Amino acid sequence: MAQTIAVLDFGSQYTQVIARRIRECQVYSKIYHYATPAAQLKADGVIGIILSGGPSSVFSKRAPIPDRALFDLGVPVLGICYGIQLMGHLLGGQVAKSEHREYGHGTLSIRKAGRLFSKLPKKLRVWNSHGDRLTKLPPGFTAIGTTDNSELAVIENLKKNFYGIQFHPEVFHTERGVDVIRNFLLGVCKARQDWTTKDYIKKSVADIRAQVGSSHVILGLSGGVDSSVAAALIHQAIGRQLVCVFVDNGLLRKGERETVESLYARNFKIDLRVVDASKLFLSRLRGVTDPERKRKIIGVTFVEVFEKALKDIGRQADFLAQGTLYPDVIESVAIGNNPAALIKSHHNVGGLPARMKLKLLEPLRELFKDEVRAVGTALGLPKEVVWRQPFPGPGLGVRVLGDISPDKLEILRNADAILQEEMMTSGLYWKVWQSFCVFLPVKSVGVIGDERNYAYVIAVRVVESIDAMTADWSRVPYDLLQRISNRITNEVRGVSRVVLDISSKPPATIEWE
Ligand code: XMP
Repeated sequence: MAQTIAVLDFGSQYTQVIARRIRECQVYSKIYHYATPAAQLKADGVIGIILSGGPSSVFSKRAPIPDRALFDLGVPVLGICYGIQLMGHLLGGQVAKSEHREYGHGTLSIRKAGRLFSKLPKKLRVWNSHGDRLTKLPPGFTAIGTTDNSELAVIENLKKNFYGIQFHPEVFHTERGVDVIRNFLLGVCKARQDWTTKDYIKKSVADIRAQVGSSHVILGLSGGVDSSVAAALIHQAIGRQLVCVFVDNGLLRKGERETVESLYARNFKIDLRVVDASKLFLSRLRGVTDPERKRKIIGVTFVEVFEKALKDIGRQADFLAQGTLYPDVIESVAIGNNPAALIKSHHNVGGLPARMKLKLLEPLRELFKDEVRAVGTALGLPKEVVWRQPFPGPGLGVRVLGDISPDKLEILRNADAILQEEMMTSGLYWKVWQSFCVFLPVKSVGVIGDERNYAYVIAVRVVESIDAMTADWSRVPYDLLQRISNRITNEVRGVSRVVLDISSKPPATIEWE
């Protein structure tokens, strides 16, 4: 078992980032609710604790306060931002209330490198975001770093192995921030670097075998990153005891079904059952224009089709596998406006497992997305799958505006295939968050040769984003846009015009619907 560093979550929007940075150092981290009893951390074998930042003031009545006994566990503690104030507040120092937030870049001057700043420059550009600040050291602590606004920006108690830092080492804007975290993990906590993709796969394969035994597992394959990696991992563990179901809902992109068939059935030799339900989906969607109704119909029909497929093949299956990731299972602490608490839930199959008396198998539950990609790559999945752009569960159903018909879908598929091809060829596909075409049910006049061409409009949407919560339209080079537009209007029958979407999110969303 990998050694664990606990990240206590006090509601910072960066809590998950801290946990990811730790794992980037090949050390396993787990996010805990701030009030987790110290006894629990001890029982879990935690070898170091990080107190996250958070939007609260220690003076607030509802300030999140951890179990004080964590300071008696004999394990190193690092307080970040709100975490350093908590240490001051709980361990006998003093914190001053501040009316102004210090927000943005600052210069940190290190007086004594010690373990935390070992092999780092004496001056670092760091990112600050805090209101209150520490004004008097708790007993046993010394100050080893200052910023313009704080004499006590870095503190340490070497005897107890407690450290506090006012800035955020986890964010990209802090210079050498990951090195500070690594120094804490390796220099202070003496962590083994035993969290590696290879070890994870080995352990996970053993766990899946132990859990499944001689039973069978069914997995709904969407072709997206998560379900693909889950399939490859489970297949590695139990081979033909895994049955994958791929539903063709008639709303897929060009060649998508064939790509899935060739990769999983032919390459990986996975037992893949393709259910062609496109006629059913499209007949139920006929004449429907309201986006919410479309989504509902697609969702309900998917569950129905999937359930029937399970009944048909699932006689001896005990497990339903899902590509649930760690961010889906973290119980986020909702303090202030923590965006982690607002992220959209996945398109999943709801109450299905209980109804079907299936147990859940979720081999990616402990992983962040970048770790899932690393596992996928190590298992031999191609770049096109591992680094695939997100694609909504309801597929092209949300990209044909207005009512959906086979000929509109055909136009959109052909236009979108050209866009994807050009994005791939230019390499831009891998750099943006999403790039896709939208079918607009508007006709406009054009000319082909001497003929008047009264045909539809295609919108091109290319966005950059970190997490889809916000997004900006991508500044795609003009010559690439020109090629995309020329090819779509020349090669796709039924299109007279291509327009570019230059809206950010907010106020627009990524999909048009
Ligand atoms: P919006 O349009 O809300 O989309 O800005 C944010 C991100 O979510 C994707 N999306 C979905 N993903 N099922 C999914 O799995 C869905 O129903 C769904 N709807 C939108 C969208 O492509 C974007 O990346």
